[in-house]
Amino acid sequence: MSNWNTFFGPITAGESSLKFLDIWFSKNRINYSKVIILTDSNVYQSCMSIFFGELNNIGETAVIEVEAGEESKSLQILSELQLAMLDNGADRNSLLISLGGGVVSDIGGLLSSTFMRGIDHLIIPTTLLAMVDAAIGGKNGINIKGFKNLLGTFSSSKGVYIYPEFINTQADGDIISGFAEMIKHGMLSGSSLWNECLELRSMSDVKKLITKAIGVKIDIVQKDHFEKNGERVFLNLGHTIAHAIEYIQGHNVSHGNAVAAGLFIESEIAFDKGLLDKRDLKKLQVLIDKWWSRLKLANDDLLEGMFGDKKKSSNSKDYHFSLWLGPGKGARLEKVSEKEIKKAQERYDKD
Ligand SMILES: NC(=O)c1ccc[n+]([C@@H]2O[C@H](COP(=O)([O-])OP(=O)(O)OC[C@H]3O[C@@H](n4cnc5c(N)ncnc54)[C@H](O)[C@@H]3O)[C@@H](O)[C@H]2O)c1
Repeated sequence: MSNWNTFFGPITAGESSLKFLDIWFSKNRINYSKVIILTDSNVYQSCMSIFFGELNNIGETAVIEVEAGEESKSLQILSELQLAMLDNGADRNSLLISLGGGVVSDIGGLLSSTFMRGIDHLIIPTTLLAMVDAAIGGKNGINIKGFKNLLGTFSSSKGVYIYPEFINTQADGDIISGFAEMIKHGMLSGSSLWNECLELRSMSDVKKLITKAIGVKIDIVQKDHFEKNGERVFLNLGHTIAHAIEYIQGHNVSHGNAVAAGLFIESEIAFDKGLLDKRDLKKLQVLIDKWWSRLKLANDDLLEGMFGDKKKSSNSKDYHFSLWLGPGKGARLEKVSEKEIKKAQERYDKD
């Protein structure tokens, strides 16, 4: 069992995490007028009975379900959820539990931090990606007109409970999506996590890396809670390009596959700028090509997808990217020109 106390709430990870959550309910359930579980249609099928099976002290609950998929991170669904909360009798003393992947925790975080100016929230991530990334760090968000996470808040939760067994029912493609974020954490920390990512043979072994990956993300966000002094922005590694790909390809591509392509292309840019060693670049590219096929980007104008990115510098044609400096060396925020982006994209397409 691993426990962390962070500025955005306590985190508990491991096989007994749901038992710890049950103990939490035995002490705290009495404080809540209503407990509402937000989930999606797939998670309802795969995880709900396991969840209830472990919790003897949760008491009466209401369940609100959204459609599975990124489309649920929308303004319209958010407003429908606010009304669904009212329909289910929620008030200021209610507790919202987000049980699901990053989509559910992102919209649940925003819902809980805005409903009646904020109610208590618990996060139970059920995908690898949400366990090692989306559920950690207090960020939430929804997409507006295709632009990722344009509306969101920083919010803390009463707890994040990570039960790795939930990923047993995830589709292989979705598990690999989470692995892309683990690679990013390994790249930044350069600790044993980086080598374990390079050496991983089968996704069935990925659970062993979860605790380390969570630790890396916590270390980074604890140094820069609100992305103000530079450290946290390093977690955007690969994501400026990834979000552009998702914008252009209309979310037909998985987040992890877009992140893998983003890490590849942005590392090419870092290499071109003399920030990254050729050997480290190659190691990363071999690792990415081992798990993902190259996306077809040849005719895509990534710049179009970056127009609304929050990292774009104002009044300029340059973009701000977090560029990798090598394992354990972190990243550096750098201005990148359109020409540099196009050149790196061409190499991804041609290699
Ligand atoms: N807030 C943050 O800091 C942060 C960080 C990274 C990513 N994100 C966001 O996270 C989202 C991606 O998260 P995701 O990959 O978890 O996507 P997701 O929530 O859409 O889950 C992927 C799919 O798996 C299904 N699923 C979830 N758990 C399952 C289980 N245990 N068994 C079977 N199916 C299951 C879901 O229904 C969905 O179809 C994106 O919207 C991204 O922007 C947020």
